[in-house]
Amino acid sequence: MELYIDTANLDEIKQAHDMGVLDGVTTNPSLIAKEGIDYAKRLAEICEVVDGPVSAEVIATDYKGMMKEGRDRAKIADNIVVKLPCTVDGLRACKELSDEGTRTNLTLCFQPLQAMLVAKAGAFLVSPFIGRLDDIGEEGMALIRQIRAIYDNYGFETMILAASIRHPMHVVECALVGCDVATVPFKVIQQMMNHPLTDSGLAKFVADYKKAFGG
Ligand code: G3P
Repeated sequence: MELYIDTANLDEIKQAHDMGVLDGVTTNPSLIAKEGIDYAKRLAEICEVVDGPVSAEVIATDYKGMMKEGRDRAKIADNIVVKLPCTVDGLRACKELSDEGTRTNLTLCFQPLQAMLVAKAGAFLVSPFIGRLDDIGEEGMALIRQIRAIYDNYGFETMILAASIRHPMHVVECALVGCDVATVPFKVIQQMMNHPLTDSGLAKFVADYKKAFGG
C-alpha cells in the first residue's frame, strides 16, 4: 500500500520524506489555512521535496472555476494532482481535466456511487473519508470495502486513497482490505513505527551488552 502524508506543513513533509517511505502528499484548503501561507507557493515548495503525487485542491465550487484553478495548479509542477470535490461540477471537471492528461483526486467521497462515477470519469485517485463517517456513527471502512469490490468487479484503474485517517488501526484495516493508498497525518505516521516492546527490548539489549563488556 502506498503511503501519503496528509498535511501542508513543510517540516512534517520533510521529516516523513526523510523516513524513506513517503509516496506522496495530500493537501486541502483547511490544512493550508492552518499554515497561513499562499497555496501555490506552498505547493511549489512541497513539489521540490517530494517527487510523488502532490494533491492540490481547488477552492472554486463551480465547473468553470474548477477548470481554471485546476489548470493553474497543474502548471505548478509535473507531479501535481488536481483535487476536486465529489459533486456534479467536480465530476465534469474530472472528466475534462483527465481527458487533457491532468491527474485528478476526487475528494469528499462518502458513498460508493460517487466512487463509481468518478472512476468512469477517469479520476486518478478517489478519496473516501473514513474518519468523518466514523464520527457520525457509520463504519468508514465499510465504504472502502464497497469501493474495492466495485473497482475490482469492473477493472476500474482509479486508485482508492483512504483519507480522514485518525489512528494506526485505520491504516491496518486499509492494508488488509487492499486499499491502494492511505493518506495519513504526521502524528499517525510516527505512531506506525512505534511499539513499547520495541523500546523496552532495545533498552535491555543495550544494557545487557554494556554490563558484560562495558562502554
Ligand atoms: O485531506 C482530507 C482528509 O484527510 C481530512 O481529514 O481529519 O479533517 O477528517 P479530517
